[in-house]
Amino acid sequence: MRLTDAQIAQFRDDGFLILPALFSPAEVAVLKAELPRLFAERRPENFREKKGDAVRTAMALHLRSDVYARLVRHPRLVGPARQLLGGALYIQQVKVNAKEAFSGDVWQWHYDFATHHGEDGVPEPLALNLHVLLDEVNEFNGPIVFIRGSHRRGAAPATLDTETTSYPLWTVDDATVAGLVAEGGLVAAKGPPGTVLIFGDTLVHGSSINMTPWPRTIFSLILNPVANALTRHQRPDHQHHRDLSPVEPLGDGCLLAEAAP
Ligand code: SIN
Ligand code: MN
Repeated sequence: MRLTDAQIAQFRDDGFLILPALFSPAEVAVLKAELPRLFAERRPENFREKKGDAVRTAMALHLRSDVYARLVRHPRLVGPARQLLGGALYIQQVKVNAKEAFSGDVWQWHYDFATHHGEDGVPEPLALNLHVLLDEVNEFNGPIVFIRGSHRRGAAPATLDTETTSYPLWTVDDATVAGLVAEGGLVAAKGPPGTVLIFGDTLVHGSSINMTPWPRTIFSLILNPVANALTRHQRPDHQHHRDLSPVEPLGDGCLLAEAAP
């Protein structure tokens, strides 16, 4: 799959793209069918919410599931990433953020490069986040909210928050967020299941709690140029993989073809 010139220009201007229903209902069903088994596992890759037992984020899924091993090589994700970044890309992080009905907690305002640089010593803010919505995401169930154009601010001041949720995160302060929102405004990344989001490493984003009866499950793949790899190994492999092998795309039907019995 290739992005159009207009989509590339929009990505450069806004800092993100929302591509509705890029994966079919049948493909999303294959992806969702894996989750009960993966979420039930008690292992460090599954982070649970601060209150209760709901899974907040489940990591390294491509090493735990054949289906997700195919998804991280899917041409509808790898193709656009190669177009935007060029060259050899490695799989930096693979997860599903669950935000379960009634209990999914907040993701504070942040941009990912603060963590990638501060924790992992990634030199430049080049990595791309490629998301697939696995549920319908609407205005109520905790959509990811982007601050349009906030990527142009570059590395905004960030501090490590280990208190608010179960997941330590380098967050952006209120005054900086207010300034960025005044400039660019907010966009809620809503859409039907199968919608793809693409955003860069300095785009400020966050999401509020899910107080609805509707789960809000989102797959996330982070790809980073091999030439821009991590330089510190203080976080575990599942938070930033050490395998720098360039990702090679599979065929477009890879999720359904091999899922057949
Ligand atoms: C979220 O799942 O709402 C946050 C995702 C992210 O920070 O990429
Ligand atoms: Mn993020």
